[in-house]
Amino acid sequence: MIDNKKVLFSGMQATGNLTLGNYLGALKNWVKLSDEYECFYSVVDMHSITVRQDPADFRQKAKNLLALYIAAGLDPQKNCIYYQSHVSGHAELAWILNCFTYMGELNRMTQFKDKSAKHADNINAGLFTYPVLMAADILLYQTDVVPVGIDQLQHLELTRDIAQRFNSIYGDVFTIPEPFIGKTGAKIMSLQDPLKKMSKSDENPNASIYLTDDRDTIIRKFKRAVTDSEAVIKHREEQPGVSNLIEIYSACTGKTFEEVEKEFDGKGYGDFKLAVGETVADILSPLQARHSDILKDKAYLDGIVKENAEKAQYFSNKTLRKVQKKVGFNEKIR
Ligand code: TYM
Repeated sequence: MIDNKKVLFSGMQATGNLTLGNYLGALKNWVKLSDEYECFYSVVDMHSITVRQDPADFRQKAKNLLALYIAAGLDPQKNCIYYQSHVSGHAELAWILNCFTYMGELNRMTQFKDKSAKHADNINAGLFTYPVLMAADILLYQTDVVPVGIDQLQHLELTRDIAQRFNSIYGDVFTIPEPFIGKTGAKIMSLQDPLKKMSKSDENPNASIYLTDDRDTIIRKFKRAVTDSEAVIKHREEQPGVSNLIEIYSACTGKTFEEVEKEFDGKGYGDFKLAVGETVADILSPLQARHSDILKDKAYLDGIVKENAEKAQYFSNKTLRKVQKKVGFNEKIR
């Protein structure tokens, strides 16, 4: 609890090109929850170097992402928006938690398996212990709730296991966090293969809507989206492509699946795809405009980055000191 409010933590990687999945599965919920909780939203740049990055390009991407948080509607005066690498406690706690995490647990992580298959020439130790750094991110702030997409649930479960293990040895040190999964949009699928998650690293650019795509591109990609020959607009297992489009439309408009099915009853796929494309473009165009305005104001962004890193450092230190004491480190003379 901070000032009688429960704590929320979440983060996003600054690599690749962010997709509609990142927006609907995470960012949109962050904004919705931001009044209710004391929020920490981190640009998790330390996670990103588990894959090789070009330094100049990476620096810019991280800045773009930080500005995107604000453009999406997160007020940086009320929400702690910061770069993970600016707060030393993340790495310090991660090391300690590494000593409370088993190799077998990390070996089971599906994201590790997927990423090591994709980057077979660089299966580094950071990629393996990535979920421990994520646990440190969350546990550092005594987090109650973590809004994420479905793909991060396994990491959240591991975080809870590590926290419970630590607490069972040393007493009540960590709050046990709960995941928050949105009712819709928690797993947006590829537009070209609706059995696969929409991913920023997909080689086929038509498979994903990028948050930087312009209106025409968005509409064109939806027009090309893979559907089926059933010719009915229904959310059901036999129609994964159409169901994904319904899911996107529902997440964007707040309408239920039944309402969407009713709205497009008797209409063709062409009309439906156009409506989904236009709805998404209507959301992303103003977001892009705000984003580019924010990026132009360097002094404003620098101020936010500095202030919020100090705030995050302050709160994270409280937990870190407690943990250091519990494991038996000698106290630093200040
Ligand atoms: P990342 O950067 O891959 O994704 C950021 C968020 O977007 C969600 N997401 C999706 N949601 C719905 N449909 C999709 N197709 C889709 N693709 C991505 C993800 O679930 C995530 O919520 N390890 C994390 C970053 C992280 C983190 C944390 C998250 C680091 N520390 C602490 C929460 C708490 C990651 O790589 O997310």
